[in-house]
Amino acid sequence: MWLSCTPKYAVASFSRQIFKSYFHVLGRWRCNVAAFMPEAAGFEGVWDRSALQDFSVSDSESFWAAAARQRLSWIRAFHTVQDCDLSRGQIRWFEGGKLNVSVNCLDRHVHTCPERVALIWERDEPGSEVKVTYRQLLEMTCRLGNLLRRRGVKRGDCVTIYMPPCPLAVASMLACARIGAAHNVVFAGFSAEALAERIRDAQSSTVITVNQGVRGGKLTELKATVDAAVHNCPTIQQVFVAMRTENPVAMTARDVAMEEEMLKEDVVCEPAAMDSEDVLFLLYTSGSTGKPKGLVHTQAGYLLYAALTHRYVFSYHDGDVFGCVADIGWITGHSYSVYGPLANGGTTVLFESTPIYPDPGRYWEMVQRLKINQFYGAPTAIRLLLKYGDQWVHEYDRSTLKTLGSVGEPINTEAWEWYYRVVGDGRCPVVDTWWQTETGGICISPRPSDPDAEIVPGMAMRPFFGIKPVLMDTEGKELTSNDTSGALCIAQPWPGMARTIHNNHQRFIDTYCQPYPGYFFTGDGGYRSKDGYYQITGRLDDVINVSGHRIGTAEIEDVVNQCSAVAESAVIGYSHDIKGQGVYAFVVLKKDVDIQEADLSLELNNMVSTKIAKYASPDFIQFVRRLPKTRSGKIMRRVLRKVVDRDLNRLGDLSTLDDPAAVEEIIQGHRELCGKQQSS
Ligand code: PRX
Repeated sequence: MWLSCTPKYAVASFSRQIFKSYFHVLGRWRCNVAAFMPEAAGFEGVWDRSALQDFSVSDSESFWAAAARQRLSWIRAFHTVQDCDLSRGQIRWFEGGKLNVSVNCLDRHVHTCPERVALIWERDEPGSEVKVTYRQLLEMTCRLGNLLRRRGVKRGDCVTIYMPPCPLAVASMLACARIGAAHNVVFAGFSAEALAERIRDAQSSTVITVNQGVRGGKLTELKATVDAAVHNCPTIQQVFVAMRTENPVAMTARDVAMEEEMLKEDVVCEPAAMDSEDVLFLLYTSGSTGKPKGLVHTQAGYLLYAALTHRYVFSYHDGDVFGCVADIGWITGHSYSVYGPLANGGTTVLFESTPIYPDPGRYWEMVQRLKINQFYGAPTAIRLLLKYGDQWVHEYDRSTLKTLGSVGEPINTEAWEWYYRVVGDGRCPVVDTWWQTETGGICISPRPSDPDAEIVPGMAMRPFFGIKPVLMDTEGKELTSNDTSGALCIAQPWPGMARTIHNNHQRFIDTYCQPYPGYFFTGDGGYRSKDGYYQITGRLDDVINVSGHRIGTAEIEDVVNQCSAVAESAVIGYSHDIKGQGVYAFVVLKKDVDIQEADLSLELNNMVSTKIAKYASPDFIQFVRRLPKTRSGKIMRRVLRKVVDRDLNRLGDLSTLDDPAAVEEIIQGHRELCGKQQSS
């Protein structure tokens, strides 16, 4: 009913909904856990945190139903909490319910605290931050929502966003949510070809971008990259261009000057009433094949899970300034720069720069200037900053910090200790958060909101509410004892999990549901300590993690193999002291190729940078005469990994190799390459 009325009225109607849901909970306010987690009020026998954890898993329906009623504002209540069957890849939460994500992230806070700062845009130029209140962000979102609608974007369409972190990027995501379109944010470091592939797969007719990006003091030509990409995308009809810098860029009839056009639009935009399971966004990530997969997240379950994990993992309190430095092009940026904090009415930082621009004190100078309370970053940056020394940290006041978070890859003990001792002065809990694009939000992590619980360095440790991690052996059986390692699965569905892979549900089933029927397979290996805590040991598939960015080895091989001089290649990850993992490529050339290896290396590196992204470019390219293969022709990557790790005593059984002499040659070539690299 409120859909057809003015926003003021709509908000009033929403607040009645909120009041009703609070009343529902307050009326049953009995047990003491409710003091820290109101969702838990009224659950029989749930008296402490560990009982709540058990309850959230054993009666996850009641747990999530209470959380959904309490945390989200609904247009229409849901009638079914969940309808999931993991073995068939069927995941549905809160069916029957209708809501609008942008209303949950904006309108309800505008109603109670319009002048609260929603976004602090930490621009590349230090000291030039821009603050955007909830009222301003709603206005921006509505104008853009109206513009998208006027230009033909409809409910169910998918809009590609190719922008660095900035308020207009957030407004773009929320404007899509407001009108019922899905968004597909592509990391602005991806090349034109990678962008084009994602636009084509998502079948977008609209792209939103900026004229130029600014990062680390350098300009990047984002509009030009979009131009090159859309050239190969027949579905594209229009490109919205916002101006990040004052430099004009070539505009065509297809391009729309975004800010100018937004000014012509009304500040009121009717929000679409979305079903809980309508698509909120696609986000492409790498898998073990050459083709990236567009994971699909839906409305209610995703938002609820992002909001709840944001509040409890980081111990976020009203009024805190939350500083997640991830780019919005990754899931971390989606869940913890945008949706989680905004659903909680929080103040969130959008970081446009790099950890070392203009110097290695950038993060901590920002913490001091913006008075950041929770800082969430990647181990790769921590390792890099550690090398620059403590003085860059000590120079700045970090007394506002309360929680430090780590994400994207394992955090080694040295980095963890430095983060804790130097950055946090030994007073802030460090939470190592394990999760994935697929999980929507944090699944395993210590919780500082639980003050009595110990935190072990470098371990993700404990599952979040409603999450039941299990380890599986090679036969597919659950390992029940502690002090054991296996394939990490999650035994029951949770609202934040991805629902499918866009246009390829079978791939979703094959990747996540088939390997261990009835369980969600994460692709990671895990270790459960004797105390029952989890540690993530790394990927079990052919995916590597470079500076916290996932990349499939097959994606890089596909590009390398496109070079006319190359017969075949094998790419592996190796341990890198800053990036976590680096890329190592073994390349076999075609017969009679007459080209200098150094020139070819340069060409291959350029090809990977321009076809995927710079971070995927190999650190080492070793030219070999042949690859170690089984008699059936399968490349034995295990052997290549051992060679590069210099673990020659554990090359394993080589008897199945077609030509064992190939290994000797590769070992020799590896030594020579490392020698060359050291002397250069
Ligand atoms: O291998 C795990 C690693 O990153 C993968 C997920 O990558 P992506 O979907 O890009 O999301 C990254 C941000 C959530 C996982 O399968 N990973 C993520 N966090 C950790 C981690 N590995 C170890 N410890 C972590 N805390």
